[in-house]
Amino acid sequence: MNILILGSGGREHALAWKLSQSRKVSRIFVAPGNAGTHSIGTNLRIDSEDFDAIKTAVIAHEIGMVVVGPEAPLVAGIHDYFLKDECLVDIPVIGPLKSAARLEGSKDFAKAFLVRHNIPTAAYRTFDRTNAMEAGAFLRTFNPPYVIKADGLAAGKGVIICNAYEEAVEEVNAVISGKFGEAGEKVVIEQFLKGIELSVFIVTDGRSWKLLPEAKDYKRVGEGDTGLNTGGMGAVSPVPFAGREFMSKVRERIIVPTVKGLREEGIDYKGFIFFGLMNVDGDPYVIEYNARLGDPESEVVIPRIKSDLFELLEGVANGDLERRSLEIDDSCVTTVMMVSGGYPGSYEKGFEISGLEGRDDCMVFHSGTKYSDGKVLTSGGRVLAVSCRGETMKDALEASYRNAGSITFRNLYYRKDIGFDL
Ligand code: AMP
Ligand code: GLY
Repeated sequence: MNILILGSGGREHALAWKLSQSRKVSRIFVAPGNAGTHSIGTNLRIDSEDFDAIKTAVIAHEIGMVVVGPEAPLVAGIHDYFLKDECLVDIPVIGPLKSAARLEGSKDFAKAFLVRHNIPTAAYRTFDRTNAMEAGAFLRTFNPPYVIKADGLAAGKGVIICNAYEEAVEEVNAVISGKFGEAGEKVVIEQFLKGIELSVFIVTDGRSWKLLPEAKDYKRVGEGDTGLNTGGMGAVSPVPFAGREFMSKVRERIIVPTVKGLREEGIDYKGFIFFGLMNVDGDPYVIEYNARLGDPESEVVIPRIKSDLFELLEGVANGDLERRSLEIDDSCVTTVMMVSGGYPGSYEKGFEISGLEGRDDCMVFHSGTKYSDGKVLTSGGRVLAVSCRGETMKDALEASYRNAGSITFRNLYYRKDIGFDL
């Protein structure tokens, strides 16, 4: 079968890499892809939100399955678009319908869902223009720090955490007044949870589900978890503090009620669910849902899946996931994200990357790269995810750092302390 993967980052490169290992997969197309996916399949110059262009490509390349990497096409309704089109209706889309992608696309929707299904999460209230004047009094019910979130998608920037009450009130007003455009028409204020974060993933056909390896992502740009938030500067899997007892709480208190809740609400969810969790003294709380896999988490999670990923996705599409097997490798995988100096602020791109060849002990997943005239150039903030396997996390990290140390491009930067806190 030919497969189309939507997206252009390290997650999509890792998906393409893994799916290309399946005997059942013939050709892989990636829209728009990057220099890494170019080495595995065919990149299509199509924006992943241009549904009409995607339709034309699906028909022209006889695509049998579409795997959606990022959230934007899901929130914009790519799955619904396929179901409504008689030429596309039989082609499975791995990723939820628009109504379910709201778990990621609307924080207010996600919080209300969590509360309806009794799933542990921070206490909250949602405000808009009509009741913004009550936000100050609600903030007073919490001790600092204060957590303020724009309801909609805000390119990862929509969460503000501040220490001073006056600043929190100002931020709430700024968000409602349009700081994040439409994404901030509603604003969620919630209790601050103190703990350590991790990312847990399942794949589901809407009835049964399989637990994928968990991961810990390092979101801040600076060492010691300092500086601005980024898309993720590195990741490790497994997560040492996610032991048997903690993960059984995650299953019982979070995963089971989420999948059951979706069914009860008549939502036929087919795809990945990413649970952004906080471990608060051994108890898991949901910080956020995402309707997709994480990035850079995918670059450590996917290499630990031993089974044929295509067969699992086929199970999602056919609704017989329960009968499919999922075997996980018990080794450790770590990834170090090499970024353009200046990221997540402004940075230059278009620099040639050297040292990519001959890395047998390592999987270099491309995030922001472009293939041009036989060269691989930087084309984004996050450039390469250097993923390595080891018997222990220490071995894996040593290999990731050894490999990152011999790949070069101008103005590169990476954190030297991934895994430091574990
Ligand atoms: P989100 O986009 O909801 O994942 O939030 C971005 C980041 O803000 C999270 O990864 C957390 O580090 C932090 N955060 C969000 N909500 C809370 C909360 N209720 N308590 C503490 N930290 C939070
Ligand atoms: N690394 C976090 C995310 O993919 O949202």
